[in-house]
Amino acid sequence: MQSRTSLDSWQALVTHATEMKQQHMSELFKQSPHRFEQFSIKLAPFLLDYSKNLINENTMSKLLALAKECDVEGWRQKMFSGERINTTEDRSVLHIALRNRSHKAIILAGKNIDEDVQQALIQMKAFSDNVRQGHWKGYSGKRITDVVNIGVGGSNLGPQMVTEALKQYSDNSINVHYVSNVDGTQIANVLRPLTPEKTLFIISSKTFTTTETMTNAKTAMRWLVASSFDESSIAKHFVAVSSNKKNATEFGIDEENIFDMWDWVGGRFSLWSAIGLPIAIDLGFERFIELLEGAHEIDNHFSQAPLEQNAPVILALLSLWNCTFLGAQSQAILPYDQSLHMLSAYLQQAEMESNGKSVNWQGESIDYPTVPSIWGELGINGQHAFYQYLHQSNNIVPTDFIGSVESVTPVQGHHETLMANFFAQTQALMQGVNEQQVREDLKMKGRTPEYIDKVVPHKVHKGNRPTNTILMKRISPRSIGSLIALYEHKIFTQGILLQICSFDQWGVELGKGLANNIQAELAKNSISDTHDSSTQGLMHFYQDSKADK
Ligand code: F6P
Repeated sequence: MQSRTSLDSWQALVTHATEMKQQHMSELFKQSPHRFEQFSIKLAPFLLDYSKNLINENTMSKLLALAKECDVEGWRQKMFSGERINTTEDRSVLHIALRNRSHKAIILAGKNIDEDVQQALIQMKAFSDNVRQGHWKGYSGKRITDVVNIGVGGSNLGPQMVTEALKQYSDNSINVHYVSNVDGTQIANVLRPLTPEKTLFIISSKTFTTTETMTNAKTAMRWLVASSFDESSIAKHFVAVSSNKKNATEFGIDEENIFDMWDWVGGRFSLWSAIGLPIAIDLGFERFIELLEGAHEIDNHFSQAPLEQNAPVILALLSLWNCTFLGAQSQAILPYDQSLHMLSAYLQQAEMESNGKSVNWQGESIDYPTVPSIWGELGINGQHAFYQYLHQSNNIVPTDFIGSVESVTPVQGHHETLMANFFAQTQALMQGVNEQQVREDLKMKGRTPEYIDKVVPHKVHKGNRPTNTILMKRISPRSIGSLIALYEHKIFTQGILLQICSFDQWGVELGKGLANNIQAELAKNSISDTHDSSTQGLMHFYQDSKADK
């Protein structure tokens, strides 16, 4: 198929990137006093300031021309109307239907799926209310005090990230825990303080085949039955969220305790479905609905706003600009809000599992750099760890700074310090400090000429490092819903610009298959000589070391 590189708009950007690499953002700010107004978007849930990117008006109009030429608007329409745009799996991509709060009909195979979604929400409400109000009883008749969600990837990261982000909104009537790792240490630590008769497990797995989740679920069942001495107690302590009812019932979960998932919801976009049950149990169903409403608000913005005013589209274009055209290879997510401490882990899966690919929709090799690797940490902790690299290394890392105007937990003097750092860092990354400024500063401080000569090169900051700033009013279920939807649509748009099928994840299958074989070989103590010498050597060392104990 026609490569993006053959588009006129693409080639115009290649030429333009060469010119822009000669520019410095601090000069661009001096030249245009209205740069902030020009390159920012104010929406109800947040302000997006993208003025601290190496862009000018010309850059934006060229990027927008590319978006037009790639038919972002047409593809957006395809997604919202349920076309099967997940071509490799032949599925629609309709996480937007899960938060369709205006109840616009979405017809799939002749059926309005909004009716199914509303039905599922009714089921979620009844269940979460029952658990929260103590009507759902364990095998001994006692109310549930603790809920453990067992799932991994999209069946864990979304709900856990949101639970962490909205901790201040929980009434703590139920303690919600998460187990994702097959390393037994995690489940052992989670279960240690819990009481089986008062613990409920949610087994979250779209496929109900994921080894890590199945292994943890079996351990949880053994733990329960070791206390109840009765397998029938499982019905009172285990529910599942899955699109694979057969496997879930074979596993021992009562059919009436299985919450459905649809094939048109991808795992990493599923927190809006029953995968979000732990959120509803933790916060109450009304708060869960607010989360959906926040996402719906951004769905409306994404589907209706013109491209030049469309926040997800702008973020996607800037990522393409910084990475594909200017050569950045990674991007950092830096929240200045403790509530968002899991955001970068969540976005890592969302973006890298979606767009970390190297063939186009037709399966042909892509001949241009695609998405960056995503990483990050809470901003303040990062400042005392890796910001040195952001400011002075030879690698440019575009970053998203995310903060809130108001803290959800005001403690005298803290938020002011936090936000002063938030503003200072993007300014420093953009402006830098040149040799002359460093010399003058040191001279003013009375340093000797010898000392100044010695340290000047070490103190120069080149600046010109791109950042986006997302400033939310306050962390709330609604604003978190909006923030996640912003990134989801950014990822969708990136996929379209890059010609990548963003909704499959074949790249995780190879390792899974090999792990199954290796586990069987280790169990039989019969290591195949078909492995490469490194893998074979490691497996033998592992077995021999275990035997030596
Ligand atoms: O890691 C691959 C993956 O398939 C993710 O896409 C998914 O979110 C995760 O595993 C969990 O899958 P499941 O919900 O089917 O257990």
